[in-house]
Amino acid sequence: MTALPGGEPRTAGLSRRALLGSAIATVGGSAALGLAGSALFAGGGPPVPAEGEHGVVSPFGAHQAGVDTPQQRHAMFVSADLTVPDAATLRTFLRDLTATITRITRGDHPPASGMLSPGASTVTDFATGLPPARLTVTVGLGLRVLALPGIAAPPPRRLRPLPAFDGDALDPRWSDGDLLLQLCADDAQVLSAAMRSLRARMPGFATLRWTQSGFSSAPPAGGTPRNMFGQKDGTSNPRPGTAAFDDTVWARDDEPGWFAGGTYLVFRKIRMKTADWDLTGRDEQDAVIGRRRSDGAPLTGRQEFDEPDFDATVGADPVIAADAHIRRVRGFPMLRRSYSYDYGQLIATAGGHPEPAADSRHEHPKGAPGHVHGADEHAHVGHGQIDVGLLFCAYGNDPERQFIAAQRRSAESDRLSRFITHTGSALFAVLPGCREGGYLGDTLL
Ligand code: HEM
Repeated sequence: MTALPGGEPRTAGLSRRALLGSAIATVGGSAALGLAGSALFAGGGPPVPAEGEHGVVSPFGAHQAGVDTPQQRHAMFVSADLTVPDAATLRTFLRDLTATITRITRGDHPPASGMLSPGASTVTDFATGLPPARLTVTVGLGLRVLALPGIAAPPPRRLRPLPAFDGDALDPRWSDGDLLLQLCADDAQVLSAAMRSLRARMPGFATLRWTQSGFSSAPPAGGTPRNMFGQKDGTSNPRPGTAAFDDTVWARDDEPGWFAGGTYLVFRKIRMKTADWDLTGRDEQDAVIGRRRSDGAPLTGRQEFDEPDFDATVGADPVIAADAHIRRVRGFPMLRRSYSYDYGQLIATAGGHPEPAADSRHEHPKGAPGHVHGADEHAHVGHGQIDVGLLFCAYGNDPERQFIAAQRRSAESDRLSRFITHTGSALFAVLPGCREGGYLGDTLL
């Protein structure tokens, strides 16, 4: 591979987009991939896919992609600490990130890197031949960044450290950070290639802090995806394109002007005690949430999208219990765009506890069959070591009144708390979108 004078890296004389085009031609044109009538083969040179074609999601607009974008199947969350000393260096970095994002989201190679002399290295494009798969990269900044010398604009008003909550078992190894990259795509290999492309831009500007990988599978016919407890998760989310969504998610008018079109992201890594859950009876599982696990309907309704009736009683008791999850967190709207994770036993078999902050000794639900506490299969190589859960993402324009208020209520008394542990936490200001030719953060810098 050589870096051409125009800065365009080439592999065997062809960009990834051109290779993709020829791959599609080989299998019989766009119809073979179920792609709508496209301009793919029109004109000379590598075709430029349009928005929506071949899974291209435009990174440009008033808002960044990856928030109101229909949820993709795979995600990687990358947190980094910035090593930039001032606003000018941050500008250079964000410009470069934007140029990289612009190219990789349409299936191109990343731009040539100034760090490499021509011919010094090659892009190992292991996503060759794959369409962009609705790849989006969403960029957020932590509070510390906004205090860099040379930044004159005030930080977003509601960007304050999250408080501690009862029951938290946070591990700093997967908490916080200056920079968040939320990468989402329908193809895990495209996602991995995107991560490598973005990571290659970091030396001299940022060091990796943590990464988390997740997935979300909705039924082929559409519908709400299920989490690792088997529940439909996302039913009462605001829907993109509605006033409720805009009012909940996008920065409010009282925010600094540069933040218009931005939002906040609360990220929590939440471990789910799947073994305890699986030993819990179906009725109790339904009571924990206040909805039926089978079809997602509220306990007072017949179908998933029926409004829960919190006043309904059976005898003296409410049908939806006082400590049911949906009762506790109701009234604090937010966009939950979470991904499940399953890290299996990997970390445990490598010699450590998957969550050092957590205590693997626990009680089985009353009456459930269990192993002998302290026995090997219970604590050391048994289910206490399975690291499965939710990469919980709450987008909203007021973390204090949305996530924090909801999490306080939940920490007070939520029947779900017995089955979950929050082990990671971070809050970012998600930058507004930018127009083509601009760069992410250009209103700030
Ligand atoms: C692993 C942890 C969690 C699991 C398994 C879980 C599961 C669920 C389920 C099954 C629902 C009902 C379906 C739906 O509307 O999506 C729900 C609703 C909801 N959850 Fe969670 N949740 C978790 C953590 C959280 C956290 C940490 C918060 C925020 C503090 C939260 C806030 C909400 C909200 C606001 C709703 C909608 C309530 C409504 O208005 O009906 N959840 N959750």
